[in-house]
Amino acid sequence: MTDHSPSPRAFSASVPLRGKIAIPGDKSISHRALMLSALAVGTSRVTGLLEGHDVLATAAAMRAMGATIARGDKGEWVIDGVGVGGLLQPREAIEMGNSGTSTRLLMGLVASHPITVTFTGDASLSGRPMGRVIDPLSQMGADISASPGGRLPLMVRGLAPAIPLAYRLPMASAQVKSAVLLAGLNTPGITEVIEPVPTRDHSERMLRGFGADLTVETDTDGTRHIRLRGEAELVPQTIVVPGDPSSAAFFIVAALLVPGSDVLIANVGLNPTRAGLVDVLKAMGGDIELIDARDVGGEPVADLRVRHSHLKGIAVDPAVAPSMIDEYPILFVAAALAEGRTVTTGLDELRVKESDRLAVMATGLAAIGARVEESEDGLIIDGTGGDALAGGATVAGHLDHRICMSFAIAGLVSKAAVTIDDMAPVATSFPNFETLLADLQR
Ligand code: S3P
Repeated sequence: MTDHSPSPRAFSASVPLRGKIAIPGDKSISHRALMLSALAVGTSRVTGLLEGHDVLATAAAMRAMGATIARGDKGEWVIDGVGVGGLLQPREAIEMGNSGTSTRLLMGLVASHPITVTFTGDASLSGRPMGRVIDPLSQMGADISASPGGRLPLMVRGLAPAIPLAYRLPMASAQVKSAVLLAGLNTPGITEVIEPVPTRDHSERMLRGFGADLTVETDTDGTRHIRLRGEAELVPQTIVVPGDPSSAAFFIVAALLVPGSDVLIANVGLNPTRAGLVDVLKAMGGDIELIDARDVGGEPVADLRVRHSHLKGIAVDPAVAPSMIDEYPILFVAAALAEGRTVTTGLDELRVKESDRLAVMATGLAAIGARVEESEDGLIIDGTGGDALAGGATVAGHLDHRICMSFAIAGLVSKAAVTIDDMAPVATSFPNFETLLADLQR
């Protein structure tokens, strides 16, 4: 993704979306499945792995540090781990492309191994703050030299044995939590993360699944204390990765907005730390039915039947933000078509994602005729009440997959086509996005 020729695409008013699609694997869980398998002693197997650029960057990094990772027939990934403490010195800098999750979690792993790793990334990733992981990992003894502003390229010189840490998260970030926990894996004693606001808990679930000694204690005020005993021995696993709710989000909203739509989205992960969007859209009047709720690989999953609905604007409780942090761009599109005003607040974190998602969404939505006002920590949107947007503009995706897909969906409910200047970033998380859309339009 660092160097590519842009792929502009136009999206225009859609026929009703109908049929059944299956969503590719969860990006967060896929990263963690590769990392923990690569640290187990023996052979793990992963099915349903997301084969997007971000996850492939993690696979390449784990290979560069000694793991054997192969994709077998029928899409099963087979990983032979090196054992906790066994990561090898990579020969070259590790290129992380667009992936903040890969970078921050791997910085954690490297921090407590006796290796030195340089991380590089594309223009988007090189603009994102890494200080949030540099701080705790430095306290654990890693020596980290970063580019100005605590950015990539940066070099992590790990310390083994590292120093165990009790770290209170200064912002709601599963990446920071996971970086510290992963560093704790090869650190003697107990590493603790104190999490005042719960964030996605895939790391905790999967660490336990691999046999790590990890406990979670919740205070009366909801603060979580996650304690991991280090120098863990991880036991190889067979993992089934559920579908990514953050990818399903685009088709959930598309089906709600495009008149006449009736779509079945199979295999959607509904971990409560991720499922905020479904609740918010239901509160807006969205017709979303959960079918066959079940457990896949230790994660709650269901099929979703979504039908075109008349949405009403709401004030979104900022407390739900961590459980739908990646879904705000597409929620803003839903709000632009809803009846009345939608107010979102508490979204400072959106400014440091793959792009500044508040500024970029506000600019793009205004360009296609939505009524939107940007505040410091949110957007205020006055919807059309279901009428199509004007469209007829080219929107900049800013190397941000979720921005590109959000405006693609906006194009489906616009009078004149919406052009995205470059859809290539979508391959980081959802390589078959356009194929699934075409399937539903047939
Ligand atoms: C992720 C955590 C979130 C999310 C990102 C994936 C993870 O980031 O936005 O897409 O897999 O841990 P933050 O931890 O920065 O909130």
